[in-house]
Parts: sequence; C-alpha cells; structure tokens
Amino acid sequence: MTNETHIELNNETEKQLEYMDLLNKIIREKASAKGRPLTACVVTFGCQMNERDSEKLKGILTRCGYELTDDETADLVLYNTCTVRENANLRLYGRLGHLSGMKKKDHDKIIGICGCMAQEPDVVKKLETSYPFTDIIFGTFNVYKLAEILYSHLTTGSRITDIWESNDTFTELLPTVRKYPFKSGVNIMYGCDNFCTYCIVPYVRGREKSRRPEDIIFEIEQLVKDGVTEVMLLGQNVNSYGKGLKAEVTFAELLRRVEKVVGLKRIRFMTSHPKDLSDELIEVMAASEKICDHIHLPLQSGSTEVLKRMNRKYTKEDYLALVEKIRKAMPDISITTDIIVGFPGESEADFEETLDVVRRVKFDSAYTFIYSKRTGTPAAAYEEQTDEATVKNRFDRLLKEIKNASSEVTGRYTGRTMPCLAESVNDHDPALITGRMSNNMLVHFPGDKSLVGKIVDVKITECKGFYYFGERV
Ligand code: SAH
Ligand code: SF4
Ligand code: F3S
Repeated sequence: MTNETHIELNNETEKQLEYMDLLNKIIREKASAKGRPLTACVVTFGCQMNERDSEKLKGILTRCGYELTDDETADLVLYNTCTVRENANLRLYGRLGHLSGMKKKDHDKIIGICGCMAQEPDVVKKLETSYPFTDIIFGTFNVYKLAEILYSHLTTGSRITDIWESNDTFTELLPTVRKYPFKSGVNIMYGCDNFCTYCIVPYVRGREKSRRPEDIIFEIEQLVKDGVTEVMLLGQNVNSYGKGLKAEVTFAELLRRVEKVVGLKRIRFMTSHPKDLSDELIEVMAASEKICDHIHLPLQSGSTEVLKRMNRKYTKEDYLALVEKIRKAMPDISITTDIIVGFPGESEADFEETLDVVRRVKFDSAYTFIYSKRTGTPAAAYEEQTDEATVKNRFDRLLKEIKNASSEVTGRYTGRTMPCLAESVNDHDPALITGRMSNNMLVHFPGDKSLVGKIVDVKITECKGFYYFGERV
C-alpha cells in the first residue's frame, strides 16, 4: 500500500494564501483603528516538531499582518501544546488561568490552542467548558489552516473548533518565520507507527507518513538560498523514513541526497529508534562530510523485560551491540539518549540494568523523565504502577550515574580545535558567543555578534560537564 497522495503545492496552499490576504486587510483596518500594529505571540511547548510547526504558524500570522512578540499581553496568543507527559498539560492550564483575567480586560484579545493536546477529546471538552474564553482550537493535522480558522472566527465572532483525525495530503510551502536565520528544522515525515506502550504521540500525531525525497530536497535548497547552513531532519523515527512511498527510499539514501545540496554545511536528524538503525545508515554517517558527529538514540530502559513491556522491540544486548557498532565506525561520535524511570512494574533489578547501560555506554548526555501515565495508552492500564518515593529515589540515582559516566568522556575535547556554528550572543555575558560543535555540545567563547551564523574554529579550553569554554584560533 502506498500513502503517496501528497502534492505539496496544492490547491489548499493557494486557498490558504488567499485567506491570508483577506485577513491582512482586516488586521490592517484594526491596526489603523487602534493606531498601532496588532501583535501575536506563539507559545511553544514540547519537541522539535512543535518548534517547527510554530515557525509555520508564525509565518502565517506575519503574512496576515501581525507583528510577532514574545509577550502574552499580545492581541493574539496561540499556545502550541504538548501532551507527552502530564506536567506539559498542567503548564498550559496554569497559563490559561492567568490569561482569563487579561481577556476580561481586553475583549478583543484572541486566545488560540493548537498542537498535541488539542487532539485529545477530553482536553477539548475541558477547554470548552472550563476555559470558555478560548476562541480557536485546532490540532496537529491542520496547522496550515490557521488563516482560514482565524478568518472564520473574526467574521462570525464564534469559537471555532477544528480538529481532524488524520490528513493524507501535505500542505507545505507556506510562509515560515525561522527562529534562527542560519539553521532550520525540516519535516521529513509525520506521525508514528511504533506505539511504545507509554507514549501518546501516535494517538495525537497519527500514522507515519513520509514526504517525497524530491520535495524535501526542494525545501532544503530553498532554505539554503535563504541563508540556512544547517538542517535538522525531523521525524519521530527517522530510521523508518520512506515506508509507503511509491519509490521506496531508505533514510540513509535520503541523507546521501541531502548531502549533495550545494551550500549546505551541516546535517542533523532526530530521532533515531534503535530497532530501525541500519548498517547502511552507519556507513553513510561515517563517510559523510556534512552529517554531524552526534546521534540521539533513546534507550528508555536498560532492562530487556521492561523494554518488552514498553514494546520497544530491542533488548539490552541489542542496544549495547548497536552502540559498539556505531562507535567502531565513528569513534568520536557523541551519543545522547532518553530514559524513563518508574515505568509500571519496573523492579529494583530492572532499574539496576538501566544504571548498568549508563555505566557501560557513557552517554555524552541524557534526558531523564519520570514515567507519566497517559490516558488511552496501553501502559496506563498496567496494574503495578511504581510508588512515588521509589521513583524519586531512582531518578536521583540515575542523574548521579549519568553525570559520573559522562564526566569520564566529555572531557575528551579539551585542548582540541573544533569547528563551531556561532549561534547567539551569550545570555549572561555579552562578550561571549555561544556556538555548537558538530557533536551538538555548546561552547562559549569570546567574540562579537558579527560571528553569529558562521562556522568558526574554536580551541576547547575547559569542559564544564555538559558545556565548554573555548577560544577562537
Ligand atoms: N519519537 C521519539 C520520542 C518522542 S517523545 C523516540 O521514540 O525516541 C520524547 C521522549 O519522551 C521519549 O523518548 C520518552 O523518553 C519520553 N516519554 C514519552 N512518553 C512518556 C511518558 N508517558 N512518560 C515519561 N516520558 C515519556
Ligand atoms: Fe512515542 Fe515510541 Fe513513537 Fe517515539 S517511537 S513517538 S516513544 S511511540
Ligand atoms: Fe509533545 Fe506532541 Fe512533541 S506530544 S513531544 S509536542 S509530538
């Protein structure tokens, strides 16, 4: 079966551009009545997928005539939500509580909710009953429809809820506003078919669908023309890229093609599921000039028993062997990971297995999460949920172990000269520039803002654990 129904520049794209023009007129009229430009604030929760969606939302809002701001007192506030763990949801409700007061004072203020939380029917019910001041609600499948939805709201005055269960066409090539002029995320696929038993993503992002390689390359070429030198190829499981395309293409093959884009300097990707990481990918990475020296390889648990109940489809030994294979081909590569603590039924022995993997692999860094029960996922029905005190204790022990293990390896760059992409002026010290090495680690070095966006050689002078200090050479 093929899911190749994607015409990227389709009638829908044209239709949305028309809505943007219509809105632009309305927004300009409102602005002249107020005697100031109308402002819009997009607040993003969650992962890189949402970050990229927010760049699309901002592109649409700008085209509609809004001035972007980070201030939630804006005329329009749009929350692009995440629901991967419960605390992400709680943070949104906290923010909304705060906004209700503002909305009472400013009746014209528009409040919108989109993203992964909006794909959950219970959340939408709660928003409509407990937060009646929300004006537009839409999900993850119709991000590109923001202008149309906003137009309906402004011309009818009623709340618009527009949630889809899936979407088979890609509507790309709409305007975007990038956070960084010199780097960009690029969606290569949407959704996830893995159904890890703890995870809500497949329910809120739908089935896996890959974009055609030629469309991806076209987008990257346009980005490069616009000043981008680094791309991050995005997918929940990039290693299974290409399934369902008419002409099947592997992720490794896609990387080979991206490598050929003239003017592009760095390629990153996220996320790699260990079960689908091929030898072909390792070969392509090792031979590449542009693919960065970093792989994010979520472990989730070191216990084969827990991995089985998580439906991860690899064992502790598989994971260790994979890391060995990757390091053999690329001895300098930085490996980072995600680990969940307190999965239902995780015993002390299971947890010890996770610590053992951490000690053996020596990750450069790791994101650690306390298991969060997500309604509707299989694991939510597992009976043996682990008690809070035990989880907290394991979480602290895990952090310590990660720190110990990584400190043994992260010092390896000290004294070496590494190319760094200068990303910004340092938040705390304006005499420093913050750059990123190929291995994704941050380095702070003396310099001025004229360097931002350039790749410069930096000698690493000091390792601070998860970041470095250096000097330009
Ligand atoms: N597709 C990516 C991860 C997406 S979610 C992958 O498979 O690696 C990012 C991370 O959130 C996951 O790697 C996992 O560690 C964590 N996570 C997902 N669901 C969770 C839950 N219910 N509780 C705690 N952490 C969770
Ligand atoms: Fe969630 Fe697993 Fe899919 Fe990642 S691979 S998004 S953890 S279901
Ligand atoms: Fe969150 Fe949705 Fe990403 S649930 S982690 S924002 S795919």
